Amino acid sequence: MIAVDGPAAAGKGTLARRLAERYGLRHLDTGLLYRAAALRLLRAGSDPAQAAAAAAAAAGVTDDDLADPALRDEDVGQAASVVAAHGAVREALLGLQRAFAARAPGAVLDGRDIGTVVCPDARVKLYLEASTEVRAARRLCELRSRGVESIDSRVLDEIMARDARDRRRSAAPLKPAADACSIDTSALDADEVFERAVAIVDSRLSSA
Ligand code: DC
Repeated sequence: MIAVDGPAAAGKGTLARRLAERYGLRHLDTGLLYRAAALRLLRAGSDPAQAAAAAAAAAGVTDDDLADPALRDEDVGQAASVVAAHGAVREALLGLQRAFAARAPGAVLDGRDIGTVVCPDARVKLYLEASTEVRAARRLCELRSRGVESIDSRVLDEIMARDARDRRRSAAPLKPAADACSIDTSALDADEVFERAVAIVDSRLSSA
């Protein structure tokens, strides 16, 4: 079991996918669960800040919800970050994540609280960081590649708002686990991040 945590656009998703492929593990992007709950609420015209409605939406998330392309939209990401601050929502999604992690042959989970709350016994814990400016530039590129036009300052504001909510919430806030290995990806490309992560995973595996 490999945990990959970090803030938005730090490179977690790409790294987690590649690690899963390399080590023959399954991969779960746990952000999609919070996004799916948020999308259910937005489509129903409900307020993501309402804890009871948010918890009910989270309890209703199914595998089919996770394939919806609308999950990637920035407004869904913002709403997901609001939804994710409710303890009842996190509780509703915990069993599903732990069950995924426990199934053979093992898994790579990426998110915000995998190493701290979801899988505190993960064999390897990685924490990716990058400067806010670099992460905003990456998000802008990703949006453009999907044909979505946005402006630098707006993307930067959105990343900062999401960071603040994810780090300051009382329920499972974003922070590195005490035993996590941090990688600052600001000046690294995806291949370099992958190489560093593989070196960490291999050294953990050989010392276990
Ligand atoms: O990783 P992402 O951008 O898809 O996540 C969307 C939001 O979901 C993020 O701002 C916070 C929340 N989230 C969380 O609280 N815990 C996780 N394990 C994954 C995501």
